[in-house]
Amino acid sequence: MDALFHPVSVAVVGASKGEGKIGHAILQNLVECGYQGPIYPINPNETEEILGLPCYPSVGAVPGAIGLAVLAVPSRFILAVARECGEKGVPALVTVTAGFKEVGKEGLDLEKQLAALCGQYGMRMVGPNCLGVIDTHTPLNASFSAGFPHKGGIAFLSQSGALCAAILDWSLPRGIGFSKFVSTGNKAILSELDFIRDMVEDTYSKVILGYIEDVKNGEAFVQEVSRFSRTKPIVILKSGTSQAGAQAASSHTGALAGSNLAYDVAFRQAGIIRAGSMEELFDYATAFATQPIPAGRRIGIVTNSGGPGIIATDSVEADGLFMARFQKDTLEALRGLLSPAANIYNPVDVLGDATPDMYRQSFRLVLGDPGVDAVLCLLTRPAGIDPAEVAAGVVQERRRFPGKPVVAAFLGGGNVASGITVFQKSGVPTYEFPERAVLALSGLARYADLIKEPPVGRGHEFTDVDRDRVRETFAEVRRDRRLVLLGSEAHRVAQAYGINAAPTRLATRVSEAVGAAEELGYPVVLKIASPKITHKSDIGGVKVGVGSPDEVREGFLGILENVQRALPNVPVNGVEVQKMLPSGTELIVGVSRDVQFGPLVMFGLGGIWVNLLKDVAFRLASGLTLEEIGRMVTETKANTLLHGFRGRPPLDHKAVVETIARVAQLVRDFPEIAEMDINPLVAYERGVGALDVKLTIS
Ligand code: COA
Repeated sequence: MDALFHPVSVAVVGASKGEGKIGHAILQNLVECGYQGPIYPINPNETEEILGLPCYPSVGAVPGAIGLAVLAVPSRFILAVARECGEKGVPALVTVTAGFKEVGKEGLDLEKQLAALCGQYGMRMVGPNCLGVIDTHTPLNASFSAGFPHKGGIAFLSQSGALCAAILDWSLPRGIGFSKFVSTGNKAILSELDFIRDMVEDTYSKVILGYIEDVKNGEAFVQEVSRFSRTKPIVILKSGTSQAGAQAASSHTGALAGSNLAYDVAFRQAGIIRAGSMEELFDYATAFATQPIPAGRRIGIVTNSGGPGIIATDSVEADGLFMARFQKDTLEALRGLLSPAANIYNPVDVLGDATPDMYRQSFRLVLGDPGVDAVLCLLTRPAGIDPAEVAAGVVQERRRFPGKPVVAAFLGGGNVASGITVFQKSGVPTYEFPERAVLALSGLARYADLIKEPPVGRGHEFTDVDRDRVRETFAEVRRDRRLVLLGSEAHRVAQAYGINAAPTRLATRVSEAVGAAEELGYPVVLKIASPKITHKSDIGGVKVGVGSPDEVREGFLGILENVQRALPNVPVNGVEVQKMLPSGTELIVGVSRDVQFGPLVMFGLGGIWVNLLKDVAFRLASGLTLEEIGRMVTETKANTLLHGFRGRPPLDHKAVVETIARVAQLVRDFPEIAEMDINPLVAYERGVGALDVKLTIS
């Protein structure tokens, strides 16, 4: 990555004299950004110079070493040029050329060949199909951007080159500074993870911002980023999420999951702050780039008018923050300072006629209160007050408490512009509206909580599992040309992983059913066995509390008759005889599989209300520890029931956590498990029982 961001020299292959051409823009950017090393334009049709630099006909003709080659030749020449670079020993490439996997099969083949060439010569490559890379501190502009960003602490990466360009345009008049700017393009070699890793190590980068459309190697991404995010805040805007996957799913878990949720869960576990819009992305960024991480969530507000103070107070509560309660000393000092009509309680309203000095002193008192973790300064400009003076007072007092974040929302556009300028120069983030300022504070607070949690660990492993038994069961199911397991098979798989699934036998004849009931012991439950029938009770396919051989016979025939009547053409494998477990609190543990992040484990309130109540929490199965499962359980209302609700005895929390961990291990071990539901998993005072296990393989 050093070769990429601090190259000893840069060659532009496809450099052109033609103004308006990409090869021209890249060369011009390199020259104008003040890059200190040699720059070599390469163009076989140009014999003399371009922009005053001697031009070379090929990479091989360059006399010195080339640290970085930026390729801007049509895609049909790319392989030849990349090979030349490899032969020359160029360590890093930026391929801006488009026409690769984004254009279809042929482009994909070309991209694969390009990646193979890079692999063969050990070259790292950004792109193809990208805008290029910028490092403001080197300085280096190996891109065709229109402009060079201000120097600063934001490292930005984006899968969309157009978005890079738009963000750059937006940032310039606002004075927002960047350390690095990377357009990742098609990520044939270097992907977001490589850049994030580099940005974490880069001393100039204070916060990492990104826009991504998809993640490569989702599970590895989460594992690694969860360590990085403890060092530096990472804020990412993720687009292109859809619920299509969720609609297609047949299990409860699958229906509640979906790609958007998978990203939410993965980002959370990775410690990434997810932004919901471009506006949010930069609102967070400006706070993270300039402010310390707060110790807690208690917010103090200083305002000179009531309305914005109330609006901000509402946002504080909505965003999971708290309004600070001031100490007695603070209240007394504010009372002595402000007019009797002012509000000395949080939000402190100094009133419209307060002088800049009264605002400054009030701010100091609020910021200095030990019960305040961060402060929001609001101002609407009344006649006769200079906003710049108010801002200067805030900047001055803020230095006394460097550990507490301060953000501002000065309302009124041009009327308050002088104050905003003072803030921008002094590193106090300002927002157009109070809600956005509060959201930025909530991002800081979320990060403060996140770094207290350990990064993703090693998935908990039990040793008492029987992998062979699961493998054999899946093989039998495949031999039978099925993907959906029968209940008896699914229960066997669960038992092989130490999950207390109610023993279940498949009976194809009445005599077998009686034999199974005698073996399991009465009472038993009879259930229709058919992979095609999911809601068995609805069609009379279940009989509970069957207590004698006669009742088994009667139940067996009755169930078959009911199903025959309701679904005459559905194939039936027989009737399952299941040991009847006592009733208890019904929970659900399930699994769905996400294309990017692998299996997701779900836990929540079970039974028939799952989809209605949606009291569920998700985690990635990958790297899931018992501690993390404990946190997952606390996110649900089911947790309240586990701890003994309204005088009921507490249930076996440990057995629930263990069951979730065993399910996670099972789906980690068997990637062919597409979906799984244990519903209900019944929790008792001692132990749990899985009454119904559904499992689909791919
Ligand atoms: N080595 C060096 N230079 C070569 C070359 C080679 N093997 N083959 C051709 N060239 C030169 C050409 O002579 C030309 O120079 P000239 O202007 O002096 O004639 C220059 O390279 C560019 O080639 P040209 O055929 O004019 O292509 P172009 O400039 O119209 O387009 C790209 C080249 C790379 C810009 C174009 O193919 C492309 O991919 N555009 C889209 C880029 C994009 O959008 N990327 C994603 C952004 S997010």
